[in-house]
Amino acid sequence: MRALILVGGYGTRLRPLTLSRPKPLVEFANKSILLHQIEALVEANVTEVILAVSYRAEEMEEELSVEAKKLGVNIVFSHEVVPLGTAGPIALAREILQKSDDPFFVLNSDIICEFPFKELAEFHKKCKREGTIVVTKVEEPSKYGVVVYDENNVIESFVEKPQEFISNKINAGLYILNPSVLNRIKLQPMSIEKEVFPGMAEDKQLNAFELEGFWMDVGQPKDFLTGMCMYLKSLRQKTPDVLYSGVGVVGNVLVDPTAVIGAGCQIGPNVTIGPGVVIEDGVCIKRCTILRDAMIKSHSWLENCIIGWRCSIGRWVRMEGSTVLGEDVIVKDELYINGGQVLPHKNIAASVPEPQIIM
Ligand code: GDD
Ligand code: MG
Repeated sequence: MRALILVGGYGTRLRPLTLSRPKPLVEFANKSILLHQIEALVEANVTEVILAVSYRAEEMEEELSVEAKKLGVNIVFSHEVVPLGTAGPIALAREILQKSDDPFFVLNSDIICEFPFKELAEFHKKCKREGTIVVTKVEEPSKYGVVVYDENNVIESFVEKPQEFISNKINAGLYILNPSVLNRIKLQPMSIEKEVFPGMAEDKQLNAFELEGFWMDVGQPKDFLTGMCMYLKSLRQKTPDVLYSGVGVVGNVLVDPTAVIGAGCQIGPNVTIGPGVVIEDGVCIKRCTILRDAMIKSHSWLENCIIGWRCSIGRWVRMEGSTVLGEDVIVKDELYINGGQVLPHKNIAASVPEPQIIM
């Protein structure tokens, strides 16, 4: 089977991290979001993955060709000259997708969940409609594509980002489609959510597959951290051995083996620490992701933060309020940062008491 992953888009909502790396390559729980997805696809017998790229393709090619070899999966890069939206890239890959009559998977590249690809394929086969989309329940449906379906899971309507409440069941950004869906898509910028799914729903050609377990679109800092908490919790249930345990660890914590943690720290709950990270003595970290090669000096206190690659946080720093530091930011000793979004390579020498972007 084949899969197409939509890896275009500018990832503006995950800035400042996406100023250094394309969104699908940002590490979520110590592995790029894209790799989480590709591994799950391989597990479900996908042998070829098409990456629909419109932007920063070289970086993705470089990183993924290595991983693809390890996994034994064929990765094809499909380059867009102009961004083709969420449907156009499917038309661009038409020749590859029509090589067989098998249905293919389509994924948004910022989704994390317990990917149910095998079950999805079986369900789709049974339902005998052109497409099946994975649906999940959320509290704030207006940020998503909302679906209404009947008792047989046939979708009656699909509305992207509705202004008024229709339902709390939303498009989870994972689909399986028959090659015939290509007849509904043109090779031009086109939105699958606004221009393809509504018509398929009208023709009664779309099924809803209800997702079990957690789900999150991790394309924004707050959701990224919430998604991390959910993911760590699911690791606790499924493979608790991969979680870190030791003195001073509270709850679910993931630590790369090459990271170093000093004495008298309190780490957790809900913390991910990347490769090469150094945490000095007496540090307290809760609900944070610390990316590769960052350094947190002694007696600092961090909650609800994403610390970018190679950042250096001084001693006695207090940081909170969904602060996101871009790559290689230096924070001086004793500062207080609340809700700062700091662009890469900045030196912070004064406290930031209220949320703001620091350029
Ligand atoms: N190749 C390519 N080209 N990919 C693109 C382009 C493009 O021009 N534009 C966006 N993408 C990719 C993004 O990288 C992402 O993986 C996916 O398409 C969806 O774009 P987002 O910008 O993340 O959309 P969203 O989060 O607002 O909404 C989408 O996801 C929700 C679930 O998280 C929609 O599919 C909603 O219906 C859905 O509920
Ligand atoms: Mg998204």
